[in-house]
Amino acid sequence: MPECCDREDYHSVFSGRFARRQLRRYRRRGLTPAAHGIVDFATSRGIAGATVLEIGGGVGQLQVELLQRGASRVTNLEISEGYEDDAAALLESTGLTDRVSRRILDIAQEPDRVEPADVVVLHRVVCCYPDYARLLKVAAGHARRMLVFSHPAANLVNRVQFGAENAYRWMSRNDFRAFIHPPDAMARAAASDGMSVAYRSHRWDWDVVGLIRGVA
Ligand SMILES: C[S@@+](CC[C@H](N)C(=O)[O-])C[C@H]1O[C@@H](n2cnc3c(N)ncnc32)[C@H](O)[C@@H]1O
Repeated sequence: MPECCDREDYHSVFSGRFARRQLRRYRRRGLTPAAHGIVDFATSRGIAGATVLEIGGGVGQLQVELLQRGASRVTNLEISEGYEDDAAALLESTGLTDRVSRRILDIAQEPDRVEPADVVVLHRVVCCYPDYARLLKVAAGHARRMLVFSHPAANLVNRVQFGAENAYRWMSRNDFRAFIHPPDAMARAAASDGMSVAYRSHRWDWDVVGLIRGVA
């Protein structure tokens, strides 16, 4: 496993341009179905007054929805610095600036620098990180009540798409790689530290896994 992770590689992929695209899409069309699945799982278990830690939250569309549904505060962690302008614009336009702290930090490398939260969220993030077991175990260790994450469905369509994108990056001398990690192994890693799987949804593009602290 290479030393994880070169911020420049992440920044070159998750750039200001990528962020602008994400924000434009969210403003026009709202959350994606997988993101809806995450919000539905969290709200069905109760998020009134809950603190949220979103790892790799990008421009922050999911956290805006959770705050609008009753969560109290969010901490967003990112490896890439490319989102900050668009994230600030989204928070300003929704009047939520004071309820979100944004930090550039890889929690898998520096877990002790991050406070636990009631709800921990990773949407489209484990596929961008080589050591999924470490990331998910650390995420579980920071979840007081719930952990919910999405990952690409392990099917042929996604494998071909991820393979083509990785090949393009290899040819462009970019060391960033996207991964389709094994779904059951991810669920097992997330179910460490007293968490148990309470919800799993499967679609052709993204799966969602929801865990609660204690026995489901
Ligand atoms: C595909 S983007 C998804 C962004 C956002 N969640 C969304 O769905 O629009 C994946 C993001 O995860 C971030 N990321 C990956 N591993 C991370 C880690 N260990 N800590 C913080 N951010 C991470 C990357 O920097 C990248 O911005």
